[in-house]
Amino acid sequence: MRHKILEGDYLYLATFEPQDAALLTKWFNDHDIKARCFYSISGYATEQVTQEQIERILKNCQVCFAIVRKSDDKLIGRFSTFKSNVSDATAVGGFIGDEEDRGKGYGTEALRLMCDYHFTSSGKNCIIASILSKNIPSIKIAEKVGFKKVGELKEVVNIMDKCFDLSLFQLMKTDFYKKFQSYYKKEENLSSSTRKLLGLESDDGSSK
Ligand SMILES: CC(C)(COP(=O)(O)OP(=O)(O)OC[C@H]1O[C@@H](n2cnc3c(N)ncnc32)[C@H](O)[C@@H]1OP(=O)(O)O)[C@@H](O)C(=O)NCCC(=O)NCCS
Repeated sequence: MRHKILEGDYLYLATFEPQDAALLTKWFNDHDIKARCFYSISGYATEQVTQEQIERILKNCQVCFAIVRKSDDKLIGRFSTFKSNVSDATAVGGFIGDEEDRGKGYGTEALRLMCDYHFTSSGKNCIIASILSKNIPSIKIAEKVGFKKVGELKEVVNIMDKCFDLSLFQLMKTDFYKKFQSYYKKEENLSSSTRKLLGLESDDGSSK
């Protein structure tokens, strides 16, 4: 059974289910997705390999989530956080699988939910993203969520014998919650006893 992790306006982050393997395998073998993720999705997937990957994700509680549309519970993509290969920082990445589901704001919301999940669950104060400099939709969603470009590595990604530039982006926790201040009023989600424990509420129930 799929567990909801975090809910947004149109989407929710959720755990994968074994039956997601077929759709994920299709996306893992999609050349467009592989190229834009600069072939970090390696090799060619079979349904069995994807099935094993889902089992590993669930067993190890990896931060790799199904992106599910609220209106029809359709699996539309996958986003994850992982240790960056350029530093000790946490990186974020993912995709919206089908072309027909892109350009509708889902990528932006999925990235926002992933960042919120990371900042609230890890205690870390920054997250990075490395994006092909030519991948305009991906750069747009990063910027809409508050990522700032901090540099560019020239001709470091090789795709089909051509070299491409890689843009590095960074998002600070304080900037993220400042940007989405009106959206996140997290303390409202806490029970009264936890609010008291954290000093957000007085013993008589009034907010501090
Ligand atoms: C990148 C990706 C996750 C974005 O998801 P999405 O649901 O399409 O994103 P959104 O709809 O929230 O936003 C996309 C933005 O890019 C814009 N865009 C899309 N194609 C564009 C193009 N060719 N030129 C300029 N802007 C473009 C859209 O207009 C939108 O911007 P806007 O809100 O200012 O209008 C999705 O396109 C995808 O999965 N692509 C394939 C894999 C990939 O690139 N993954 C990221 C690897 S780092």
